[in-house]
Amino acid sequence: MSDSIRTAIVTGAARGIGATIAKRFAADGMQVAVLDLDEGACQTVVDEIAAAGGKALAVGCDVSDEAAVAAAVERIASELGAPTTLVNNAGIIRDNLLFKMGVEDWDAVMNVHLRGAFLMSKATQKYMTEAKFGRIVNLSSTSALGNRGQANYSAAKAGMQGFTKTLAFELGKFGVTANAIAPGFIETDMTAATAERVGMDFDAFKQAAAQQIPVQRVGQPEDIAATASFFAREEAGFVSGQVVYVAGGPRD
Ligand code: NAI
Repeated sequence: MSDSIRTAIVTGAARGIGATIAKRFAADGMQVAVLDLDEGACQTVVDEIAAAGGKALAVGCDVSDEAAVAAAVERIASELGAPTTLVNNAGIIRDNLLFKMGVEDWDAVMNVHLRGAFLMSKATQKYMTEAKFGRIVNLSSTSALGNRGQANYSAAKAGMQGFTKTLAFELGKFGVTANAIAPGFIETDMTAATAERVGMDFDAFKQAAAQQIPVQRVGQPEDIAATASFFAREEAGFVSGQVVYVAGGPRD
């Protein structure tokens, strides 16, 4: 792989952690498909990558839609190159206590995180196994350990860990690694929305969170991008099936 430019796909990359991973991968020398629900919303990230001298493609796709995923991955392969690096980052939260959680909130979260990661991984593994090289990075969460109000999300994020380990077993012989990152509190629109839901000012919310974190600060998208960058490296080829908690401490 070393003499060809790698193509990476980052899902949910129009903003937040995904956008930062996409920019980090471009800085690492990969060309990047910036994939999110709305193609137009991906353009800013694509422009930023191009302005820094990189190459990126905006791709509109709902990761839970099988036909859309197949079309998006084919388009990326023909317009950028065979994708051999994938970050399953797209995610949503639909928090509520169990007794108030609607089945639609359960299904929505399962569909984006688990069905989405399954469909994207299935569609791209073909290119990875053909290339005898691949890197899959899945976004889990400290919520995988359980979190009040997140029966759906914590189940999905724990599921991402089992999914990751199984991909590591199945795809290892093709030179493909699969690893998961379990972030703690990262400052993004997602955590801002959580602050709003619990009726707290975001700065106060972050400060309260930081006090509970051993390194005494909340995380930034760059903290996650640095870990994804490591897993994506060629030299990380003997690291597979791992879950790294990037949470300023052992867990949340
Ligand atoms: P965010 O809400 O800022 O960004 C998520 C992106 O995913 C959005 O651009 C959204 O449009 C996209 N997306 C949602 N549904 C999609 C679908 N069906 N198809 C394609 N794209 C879709 O979230 P953030 O904070 O950047 O989180 C990224 C990932 O990291 C998520 O998987 C999240 O669960 C995980 N995570 C975040 C933490 C945090 O503290 N922010 C902590 C632990 C995990």
